[in-house]
Amino acid sequence: MLLTLSDYEAEAQARLTKPVWDFVTGGAGEDGTVRANRRAFDGWRFRPRVGIDVSSIDVSTKLLGCSWQAPIAIAPTALHELCARDGELATAPAAASVGLPFTVSTFGSRTIEELAASCPQAVLWQQVYVFKDRSVTASLVERAHAAGAGAILVTVDSPWLGRRHRDMRGEFAMPPGVIARNLAASTGDDPDIVSPSAHSRRTMDPSLTWRDITWLSGLTDLPVVCKGVQTGEDAVAAREAGAAAVVVSNHGGRQLEGARATLDALPEVVAAVGPDYPVLMDGGVRSGRDVLLALGLGASAVLVGRPVLHGLAVAGTAGVAGVLTTLVEELVDAMGHCGRTTLRAIGHDLVTPTLGAR
Ligand code: FNR
Repeated sequence: MLLTLSDYEAEAQARLTKPVWDFVTGGAGEDGTVRANRRAFDGWRFRPRVGIDVSSIDVSTKLLGCSWQAPIAIAPTALHELCARDGELATAPAAASVGLPFTVSTFGSRTIEELAASCPQAVLWQQVYVFKDRSVTASLVERAHAAGAGAILVTVDSPWLGRRHRDMRGEFAMPPGVIARNLAASTGDDPDIVSPSAHSRRTMDPSLTWRDITWLSGLTDLPVVCKGVQTGEDAVAAREAGAAAVVVSNHGGRQLEGARATLDALPEVVAAVGPDYPVLMDGGVRSGRDVLLALGLGASAVLVGRPVLHGLAVAGTAGVAGVLTTLVEELVDAMGHCGRTTLRAIGHDLVTPTLGAR
């Protein structure tokens, strides 16, 4: 029975080949930060309130110029075709049916144009990297705008690519037929990128600075969101460079082995930019309770990465919709138990450190 996101994960592992499973699951080094992201959620507990009418609970929100049915979005992850034949074409309708934004990766196996045409009701965001060849980044932004995307997420945590031991040991290579079409539409290159890691090392710009974020913000009227901020100082710098929001993220533990958990970094970031600036977070969110803890610690919304790929591997569109619906239902359930009926009612008073955990 697929009751929890762990059930989807176990079923996905049974269906995917080992190299693909390792690519999806693994992090930098020996996965220490992947584990830290998860464990951080054990460091917090709820302070539920009672005596409040919880017969109606509203988890909808408006953020970055669009309406969300719940404060949850799909994080950008490369190459959905690794997990399901139709790749992102299967993901987009699930996001649309649950009413949540879907961030298309630069390394998407389908182009943002194909997704916008096949699923016009989906809220699509485009994730970009700052490439040495700035015209590739600019082209991704331009194409996203033309395809009707709602936001640009620029990933700032990858001037160096993480040393991912699982991938390095397994020498992950693209299975035949899986193609990074979204990037290829901007480079005009042979789309057959054999190794996403080798391609990233060759093309991403390690000289990336905040000036590049200012440049990027000047290219578009769409909100530009900086993904991969892990300190208060950098959140302030992102805001000053023109970002409309930040995502507290360590790339799902795939970049710096030893980086602290994103849930642990979140309060510092929220304190630095204040309550009126949107701070999203990702890394290790695996239940609606996790979503609520993140909101209690000041997140405006969360992103989920691997669970969406698990849903795709298990049952395509229905699997992704199952994962997203589970998260929303669990969030509603946890809010009901905590005496919170709207997202506005969620504050730091909702959470308390687990005794003995810190
Ligand atoms: C990612 N992530 C990522 N991020 C990004 O900005 N561009 C990308 O192309 C990718 N690709 C990618 C592939 C795979 C297989 C994974 C697992 C992750 C990182 C992603 O957006 C997000 O930060 C993490 O996945 C969040 O952590 P969880 O939810 O997977 O624990």
